[in-house]
Amino acid sequence: MVIIMNVIGVLTSGGDSQGMNAVVRAVVRTALSKGMKVMGIHNGYKGLIDGEIEELTATSVSDIIAKGGTFLRTARCLEFKEEAGVLQAVETCKKFGIEGIVSIGGDGSFRGARDLCLHGIKCVGIPGTIDNDIACSEYTIGFDTCLNICIDCIDKLKDTAASHSRCSVVELMGRNAGWVALEAGIMAGATAILVPEVEFNLEKDVIARIEAAKALGKNSFIVAVSEGIFANEKSNKNYEYVVKRGIANADALAKAIEEATKVTSRGTVLGHIQRGGTPTAKDRAVASEMGYYAVTKLLANDIYNRVVVMKDGKVTDIDILEGLNMKKPFDVARYEMANTINL
Ligand code: ADP
Ligand code: F6P
Repeated sequence: MVIIMNVIGVLTSGGDSQGMNAVVRAVVRTALSKGMKVMGIHNGYKGLIDGEIEELTATSVSDIIAKGGTFLRTARCLEFKEEAGVLQAVETCKKFGIEGIVSIGGDGSFRGARDLCLHGIKCVGIPGTIDNDIACSEYTIGFDTCLNICIDCIDKLKDTAASHSRCSVVELMGRNAGWVALEAGIMAGATAILVPEVEFNLEKDVIARIEAAKALGKNSFIVAVSEGIFANEKSNKNYEYVVKRGIANADALAKAIEEATKVTSRGTVLGHIQRGGTPTAKDRAVASEMGYYAVTKLLANDIYNRVVVMKDGKVTDIDILEGLNMKKPFDVARYEMANTINL
């Protein structure tokens, strides 16, 4: 096969997610097998601007498939959103001979990748975020590991809630999206699940559900809440509602539930614990496959300005801009399923 690119870079950007290391490993080993040189760019687009770059070898990525976090480190870099930042990054690419880049992250990172493509750097995106909120891909690397952590933690909260006959309100990550709360809520049997995409009414969707479960003999309850319900984002249908009631966080929600139901309630924010730890089998597998695909199917064939995605359970790719313009409709039917089978 004709090698079109001699040197590619790889970076991780935005919030980290479990499995990012496994992607980098797959990209490095695959690119080396094609005769390419691989440069590891540290700290996302910030490192590309500042030239924090080192050559990676086959053994630079040994023993990282099982490690959470990203050994390349990551950053949120506002400078890169400006034209001057992008131009500076392009200069760095020229200096290091980098012709193409694999950028692992979320939508923001893909916007950055597209900007670089517009300036002649041949980029490919790979979805890595625990949020599973990328419209063009059914799956994002890290989501499965995050869910396993969430259900493990909620199972523990259930134990202590049951001992004390309490309601445990657990706040889960997801920026402006409720996918983590929905799936963790289903898998851990939450009495109520609150997400930014679905309007809720405290009385009907939380209090009445707890009262109904109580009437059936339950003495403890889990309310799974996405952090997005407290966020002032256009996509959040509940912000005005929660603000009006002074419900600013999981503790405030627990207080409101306690007042209405007389069930002692506590709030817990799982926070960044959801983003760490060893990736699950699924995340390692998807990460390996997507990293391999990005090089063999795309960059090695001079194909770029694409995002590697999961579609109908298969790894494929899509134009970056087309992907960014897609909307991911919330799975309301699945939400209804949760409310039917969970008490
Ligand atoms: P994610 O990639 O997980 O969505 P962010 O939104 O924080 O995370 O984006 C990660 C990084 O991508 C930002 O810090 C910035 O460097 C870059 N980025 C984000 N949005 C843009 C944009 N509109 N144009 C160029 N670069 C962007
Ligand atoms: O995008 C991933 C994510 O983990 C979101 O779920 C969360 O809102 C955000 O990152 C937290 O970001 P930070 O690392 O800045 O606290």
